[in-house]
Amino acid sequence: MTFRTGVATRAKARDTAGEPSSGAQIAVLVVHGPNLNLLGEREPEVYGTTRLADIDKELKRLGLELEMKVETFQSNSEGGIVDRIQKARGKCDVLLINPGAYTHTSVAIRDAIAAVNIPVIEVHLSNVYKREPFRHHSTIADIAHGRIMGFGAESYSLALRAARKIVEESRRRIG
Ligand code: DQA
Repeated sequence: MTFRTGVATRAKARDTAGEPSSGAQIAVLVVHGPNLNLLGEREPEVYGTTRLADIDKELKRLGLELEMKVETFQSNSEGGIVDRIQKARGKCDVLLINPGAYTHTSVAIRDAIAAVNIPVIEVHLSNVYKREPFRHHSTIADIAHGRIMGFGAESYSLALRAARKIVEESRRRIG
């Protein structure tokens, strides 16, 4: 699968620089899409009461525990998200993304993900399948390594743990 190539290439590049790929710190980018900046106030019955800043703080804390470097980014604009994903090319081992409403519509975000060749975990706070039918379609589901949804803010922590496994397994495979 194409995403594995991305991890392998990055790890190999580090090997060339003299760093053992297995010991290199895992770099994670977490991207939050539109309206997620309002978490905590926005439809708390659906999305919970945890604010985005607290989710990011917890991811960074958990990242330290798991020896992962976590960078977070939020944008309400599709182009902003595309730009950030492109910037991650060759610099990031794994991408966690909650594209918000763009999940259901954005071919541009899908294309950006396909272009950078970084393994992706799709994250949602809510279980989109318990909601309106228009939320059941995701433009990135078939190119994501996996999808985690329905656990509120905890979805992100679960995704970060899964991300670590993906990269470790990939590094093990390439030695
Ligand atoms: C969401 C689900 C989307 O349908 C919605 O547009 C969001 C949040 C979630 O995390 O549950 O903004 O991605």
